[in-house]
Amino acid sequence: MTKITRRNFLKKWQLAVGTFATAITAPSLFYWWWDRSGQPTDIENWIDLGKAKKITENEWLKRPISFTIQDRWNSRIVKEMLYVYRVKRDVTILTSICPHAGCLVKPENNGFVCPCHKSFFNEKGDVVTGPSPRPLDSMEWAVKKGRLFVKYEKFRSGVEIKQSIS
Ligand code: FES
Repeated sequence: MTKITRRNFLKKWQLAVGTFATAITAPSLFYWWWDRSGQPTDIENWIDLGKAKKITENEWLKRPISFTIQDRWNSRIVKEMLYVYRVKRDVTILTSICPHAGCLVKPENNGFVCPCHKSFFNEKGDVVTGPSPRPLDSMEWAVKKGRLFVKYEKFRSGVEIKQSIS
């Protein structure tokens, strides 16, 4: 049995304090790493896409979203699929709505294809072939306390310049 000396006690005390300090500061350091300065701060109406660290790097992930829109007396539920891509601390979020006429695109051959009129978009969402007048629309994002938020918007279809309509 080890004799408890003053020196042994102090070593164990320092180890315990160090471990405790690391345990309570590690999450905030992670948040600091993600929560970059310059990000939008007014995000209370943005949609929470979950923990940022759970987003696998270098592959497109589907993130279904749903939310309720209230128009005076009616409310309706909107459902959509977003595509999320992460490289280190940088994220790209694309809508699944084709800019040509509003059909839903699907991932195919390292890009996206629209089944309606066969627009094909590359892995960055740029138009490769087909009638789409612009790339797939990207959305603003921010990371707060380790969670990824998106500013969901709908965009006008059939026009070359991206125009938000919501
Ligand atoms: S709606 Fe997508 S190509 Fe026409």
